[in-house]
Amino acid sequence: MDKQSPVASQHSRPAHLRLGVNIDHVATIRNARGGDHPDPVRAAQIVAAVGGDGITAHLREDRRHIRDADLARIQAATGLPLNLEMAATDEMLAIALRHRPHAACIVPERREERTTEGGLDAAGQHNRLAPIVARLADAGIRVSLFIAPEPRQIEAAMNLCVPVVEFHTGEYAHAEGEARAAELKRLADMAALAVKNGIEPHAGHGLTYDNVQPVAAIPQLAELNIGHYLIGEAIFVGLDAAVRRMRELMDAAR
Ligand code: PXP
Repeated sequence: MDKQSPVASQHSRPAHLRLGVNIDHVATIRNARGGDHPDPVRAAQIVAAVGGDGITAHLREDRRHIRDADLARIQAATGLPLNLEMAATDEMLAIALRHRPHAACIVPERREERTTEGGLDAAGQHNRLAPIVARLADAGIRVSLFIAPEPRQIEAAMNLCVPVVEFHTGEYAHAEGEARAAELKRLADMAALAVKNGIEPHAGHGLTYDNVQPVAAIPQLAELNIGHYLIGEAIFVGLDAAVRRMRELMDAAR
């Protein structure tokens, strides 16, 4: 588990912390009225124009925000890589194979949840995940698992041979005081452990202007995926200004 691999040394200190912007909630607002406005494609174009590094979109089983037809439009609209968040189902696998996004992040999904409330139990679901990971990887899609920052989940990710894990930062974001410091340490320790084992660590969920910097300062992290807060801020200051501000805070923390 702790053997230093060449991949690990390559990724131990990524110079640039990538920002993937999750545009799901532009589609949430669009869907509230059933029409075409606001269009998540326009959001993707703004993210590209202000130097975002990627677009993240979660096609949920209930299609509550992003819809099937959005995927190709988002892919065609910018040169940015698309990170498709998807449940480990046959339906989503078929969609991913059809669209061939740059990356696919496998997330747990429950219909009744408001958002992705916890990490994927990669350790407990090896047999379910293995064929899905293999098919995605064979199609040239960079597979990531959205997991809690725990050694057993990293070990499971290694057993599944994924190149990337994304740590769920929800516990960090919701904790306060000493509990938050402990969560931050856990994220930093697990980012180091992932890199040591040849896996590129990303992080996301619940990140805001106020809490992003300690996470961005973790040197091994290569990418943050941020959605709800940025789209919320965009209502007040515009998406371009919101993404720029997040970018500045991330850069300042490095
Ligand atoms: N990363 C993953 C894998 C997610 O599922 C989500 C959305 O839940 C995010 C990042 C972004 O989280 P948020 O919208 O809270 O910024």
